[in-house]
Amino acid sequence: MIKIGPFSLNSRVVLAPMAGVTDQPFRHLCRSHGAALTPSEMITSNIKLWNQEKSRLRRCHDGEQEPRVVQIAGSDPAMMAEAARMNAEQGAQIIDINMGCPAKKVLKRSAGSALLQHPSLVETILNAVVTSVDIPVSLKIRTGWDTQNRNGVDIARLAEDCGIQSLAVHGRTRACAFKGDVEYDTIAAIKDAISIPVFANGDIASPEQAAHVLKHTRADGLMIGRAAQGRPWIFNAITHYLELGSQMPAPTLAEVRDIMTGHVRNIHSFYGPVKGVFFARKHVAWYLSNLSETPDIDCSGPEFDSMILTFRKLFNSLQECNAQLDNIESIFQLLIHSRVKQQKELAA
Ligand SMILES: Cc1cc2nc3c(=O)[nH]c(=O)nc-3n(C[C@H](O)[C@H](O)[C@H](O)COP(=O)(O)O)c2cc1C
Repeated sequence: MIKIGPFSLNSRVVLAPMAGVTDQPFRHLCRSHGAALTPSEMITSNIKLWNQEKSRLRRCHDGEQEPRVVQIAGSDPAMMAEAARMNAEQGAQIIDINMGCPAKKVLKRSAGSALLQHPSLVETILNAVVTSVDIPVSLKIRTGWDTQNRNGVDIARLAEDCGIQSLAVHGRTRACAFKGDVEYDTIAAIKDAISIPVFANGDIASPEQAAHVLKHTRADGLMIGRAAQGRPWIFNAITHYLELGSQMPAPTLAEVRDIMTGHVRNIHSFYGPVKGVFFARKHVAWYLSNLSETPDIDCSGPEFDSMILTFRKLFNSLQECNAQLDNIESIFQLLIHSRVKQQKELAA
């Protein structure tokens, strides 16, 4: 069992922080589908920006399951320490430091993965944050700045020495962004070099891949990002496979509809009607792009693709919460009906 400070995790699979995705409704959903940790979207260490709506929503973790992980990003040690302290006062139970983000906006401020170029600044930041709070501090890194400067092992050792209590590694350099194969070998070398829990991250999109990565890296746990978009059940599916060696049945159409509807309702109530309608669109698109995994539908023909395309266009034009919910209901009725028709035709 993975332990981070006083917290024992109930599975080996956690959600990756994703700005614009891992908001409170999505975190809640992933927890309910077996994610052991659900870190917040990154929060700037510049507390002067915290009264902005975006930052306020990112710091909201009311009613969330424990342990509540808040990720902070920045490059000034004193500001990072202050941000950690204030988040802890406001209910964070683990502070996660972002040294993995390749976003230009973040790099411009020499934060995120840009910090990997400056190990002494990394050390100062980690020391400042760890000593500013009495809750565990975790770190998320890439394998280095670029393929000539793969210093992930050194940064990992430094992190452990500074008192970091768990490490997540996206197995690519900053320069590789999201392209190319993930370096599971580098993650394995990092795991070998330190004794705090290590989470392997990058391109893990199926239970089989999860088992392969665990075996190859000997990591303690796995962190899942994009593969959870529109597939929040992936956490339970991976745990099921790791524990029992068999596939958990994929959710049926009716189950996907219920998960999706609950998620969209939560998005509406978290963001309010205007932003809620807007944020719901990308999640709905992700669910639809994964419908081919549901066992009770034939998604092969062009008819299916054009039905989904028409639905998406219509959905994206809707401006009201109830209209979005009604629309989801009607597409699923159509899909379930066409499934029943198909079965009758087969039986005839
Ligand atoms: C839309 C998006 C937003 C992201 N935002 C963050 C972030 O705020 N903090 C962070 O540490 N990593 C961030 N990442 C990186 C992910 O946490 C993760 O490391 C990466 O997506 C690789 O994992 P995956 O292949 O499972 O998606 C983001 C990734 C995506 C796709």
